[in-house]
This record gives sequence, C-alpha cells and structure tokens, in this order.
Amino acid sequence: MNTKQRVLKALEENRAQYVSGQDLADKLNITRTSVWKAINSLKEEGFEIESLTKKGYKLVQDDDNLSVAGIKKGLIRELKDIDIKIFNTIDSTNTEAKRMLYSEKIKDFTVLVSDEQTGGRGRQGKNFMSPKGTGVYFSIIIHPKENFDISYFDLITVRAAVSVSQGIEESTGKFSEIKWVNDIFVDGKKVCGILSELDADFETHTVKSVIIGIGINVNEPKEGFGEDLKDIAGSVGTDIIRNEILSTILNRFYHNYFYEDEDKILKYYKEHSLVLGKNLTFEKNGKKYEGIGVDINEKGNLVVDTKKGRMTLSSGEVSVKGDFTR
Ligand code: BTN
Repeated sequence: MNTKQRVLKALEENRAQYVSGQDLADKLNITRTSVWKAINSLKEEGFEIESLTKKGYKLVQDDDNLSVAGIKKGLIRELKDIDIKIFNTIDSTNTEAKRMLYSEKIKDFTVLVSDEQTGGRGRQGKNFMSPKGTGVYFSIIIHPKENFDISYFDLITVRAAVSVSQGIEESTGKFSEIKWVNDIFVDGKKVCGILSELDADFETHTVKSVIIGIGINVNEPKEGFGEDLKDIAGSVGTDIIRNEILSTILNRFYHNYFYEDEDKILKYYKEHSLVLGKNLTFEKNGKKYEGIGVDINEKGNLVVDTKKGRMTLSSGEVSVKGDFTR
C-alpha cells in the first residue's frame, strides 16, 4: 500500500472525525509533509477531505468516492485479504477481468470495481450504460485452484442475484425484486443487471474461472437514463455510500456462494420473483410464445405454462418480456 492509500485508510477508519496531521504522521511513521502531500493528492482525486487548523483532517461523512479502504472497512473477516482493484474509468470490468486472467496470477475472489465504464456489456450483446459517479460496476473473479465441473456453477447467477437483492435491502432498507434470470428491480424499474461469464474447457466440461459482473444504478445520473431507457431503468435512490452497498453485497455473495443451501437460495429467489404467476412472452428458436411463469427449477431455469404445454427455459436462449411495472 502506498502512502496515499495508507493516509486514506486512516481517514476512512475515522470517517467524519478529525485526525491531526501529527497523529497521522506518527501512526503511519511518515513526515507531516508526506501527510500533507497525500491529503492534497487525495483532494485532487475528488475525495472530500476537510482541513481545519489545530484539528487536522477529516473525510466527510457522505463522501461517495469508491476506495479499497472504504470497501474493506465493511467486509467480513474472511474477505479482508481479498484483492480489490479500483478504476476511475475502464471499458468494462468483465473485459478487464478476462485480460487479467490471461496475463496475471489472479487470486480467487478478486474484485474489480470502476466508477465508470465506457463499454459496459449486458446480456445478449447489449450495452450497459455505466455513467460516472452514480453507479457501482464490478466484477468478482472466482478463480479456484482446481477446476470444477460446469454443473457446479448452475446457480451462480441466481446466487449473485439473491446477494444483490439482500445487499440492497440490508444497506438501504429498500425491497427489491428479481426478474428472471438476473435483473434486479426496485419500485418497478430495473436498477441492476448481472452478466456472468465462464472460462471453461469444452472437452472436459470443467470451469477454470467465472467472472460475475454486476452493475447497479445507485443514484440517477444527472443527465437521466436517456430516451430509450427512461421507462425501464431506475436507480436504488439512496444516500448510503457506494462503498457500503458494495461491501454488503460482497459479504452476502461470499456466504451465498460458499455456504448457503441451494434450497434456501431458490426459496428467496422465488419469493422475490417478478415473473412467477405473471403473463410472459418470449421467443425460442425463432418462434413466439405466451405463457405464465410457474416455477424456477434447481438449475435456475424458468418453467412456463404455455398453450402448447409446459416449457423449461434456460437463460442463455430467451429473453422474457412482461409487465413488470407496479
Ligand atoms: C444486463 O443487464 O444485461 C447485464 C449487465 C451487466 C453489467 C455489469 S457492470 C460490471 C460488469 N462489466 C460489464 O461490462 N458488465 C457487467
């Protein structure tokens, strides 16, 4: 950790309280000039740090900049040593995760986060609008030492969707719903999308790594969502800072991925489902269908009753439409 990161960590540990320059210098074993330089550089980066003669420096309560120190502060003990990399801007955290997997040694549960994405990717080749400062766009890289059979990851997106829904509720108190397979809605509008990608070996049917990309509109961008998205997209709408929302979701995902029973995950998912019991339309192999969503099975597939009988849909092949507004 460089000096600037150490100073930020110390301020984060005392968020909303003044810490004197001398105390910072003593604690970090650096000079007061180094503290002063680090503070100036953090301010230039946009961190809201107040300075007061005789009192020192404080990171203001509602500073909403993303930082490793800010995210780690809210993580459970088991996640304190994970690698987190933050970008001001990047094309896509999922794409960066792939680049890293090819070129570097990556630890299991590495997290890449960006304040903005210039080429955010959604499912089925769509773009994911990722404007600066109002959302949180991140990828969790699951990179276990050994390969796993592909079926081990059947419910990975469902587990991620449940974690986001629980994380939003825990940190902001807002109730959210899940539109199969991986969109999270608050107050009838989509506030989050999830794109999971696998690095798999076709011959052996095993998976080396999984990238779970999650994009959340925390607050509405100043310029709005644009004409084509304004009726569909929404934001969580909260004064809870993004670092906190992110660490709560990471904690939930850790628990849900490593420890939670499949039954409990599916129970939560179904209870929060926006498609069960609803009239739906979808297209499969070039044909259009209508039906009612009746179940989510143990593989995370959606079961729909249509006039032509019961059909089981897997996420890769269809996009379900319906009236999900409230
Ligand atoms: C969707 O709504 O279709 C899925 C959107 C997934 C967006 C996230 S943001 C972080 C990660 N990086 C990307 O380019 N996409 C995912």
